[in-house]
Amino acid sequence: MLPRPFFALAPMADVTDVAFRRLVMHLGKPDVFFTEFVSADGLFHLREIKKVPDDENPLLRDLMYARGEQPIVAQLFGSNIETMRYAAGVIARLGFAGVDINMGCPDRSVEKQGAGAALIKNPVRAVELIEAVKDGIKGAGSEIPVSIKTRIGYDKEIIDEWIPTLLKGKPDAITVHLRTRKEMSEVSAHWEYMERIVKLRDASGAKTLMIGNGDVHTLEEAKEKVLQSGADGIMVGRAIFGNPWFFIGRTFDDTPVEERIAALIMFSRFFEELSSPKPFHIFKKHIKAFVNGFPHATELRAKLMNTNSADELIATLNKWGG
Ligand SMILES: Cc1cc2nc3c(=O)[nH]c(=O)nc-3n(C[C@H](O)[C@H](O)[C@H](O)COP(=O)(O)O)c2cc1C
Repeated sequence: MLPRPFFALAPMADVTDVAFRRLVMHLGKPDVFFTEFVSADGLFHLREIKKVPDDENPLLRDLMYARGEQPIVAQLFGSNIETMRYAAGVIARLGFAGVDINMGCPDRSVEKQGAGAALIKNPVRAVELIEAVKDGIKGAGSEIPVSIKTRIGYDKEIIDEWIPTLLKGKPDAITVHLRTRKEMSEVSAHWEYMERIVKLRDASGAKTLMIGNGDVHTLEEAKEKVLQSGADGIMVGRAIFGNPWFFIGRTFDDTPVEERIAALIMFSRFFEELSSPKPFHIFKKHIKAFVNGFPHATELRAKLMNTNSADELIATLNKWGG
């Protein structure tokens, strides 16, 4: 169903939440959205052990989306076969367009569970998890695709082993963040490897879509990366900060200050309406990205950082503008 090439909004915990995605949906929709990652163990525990009602379950709130966000893929992390199977079934029933398995997150608490980037060191389990997620989807009477998001290795690049291993599980798509776990986000993404990654897929005969990710700053650049590498799609993360118009081809500087402020106001309303009871300081992380690069931006930012609700933020902006 996706165009070729296609451009995806990356999963980013505490950034691409329901409110931020709603903003992007209104101002510049990608070809496909991904949710923030959600713990499969957590979902199982809250629903099946603690019996938390669905409308009070914070993880289900993280999985809230609007119809206009479709196609939207939900990302899971975990390493337990049973809970991953279970969580995939929940996601399929919620009407998502796909389930993505996180095999790249370097967060210590995630890796301690054997999940995220730790799976690069556990290829047998990685393939079992793809099977488990497929099973869970099938058990829910659905046929939605399964994808993986990973890196090029753990301590060192192991593309020639790792990509064929994942392809054995026949995922529908693989996103490769073009760095090792050890490199975190500290070196430039290794786009020079993407063509090799695509060729490994071609050589295997698999139909898996290959998506490149890392350090793409503009839509133009994303299109160039497709031409250079042969990737089916490009996933973009941090370039969306303060620029919800990324996917309609705008750079941050293309957007007049008034429009950026109007977007921040719209976003604060979505946050209050949709993300509550998440504390307002999570929203405030975005202020710097929007209020930036114009006269007196620093002063305004300082004032906005002292606000504690959307109403206070909007009143401060109105006072400043008027
Ligand atoms: C704040 C933040 C949160 C992230 N959360 C996730 C996540 O939940 N799942 C995931 O697979 N990757 C996550 N990532 C990694 C991004 O999806 C992406 O792979 C990385 O930022 C590189 O792409 P970029 O250079 O376009 O930002 C996160 C990155 C950032 C900066």
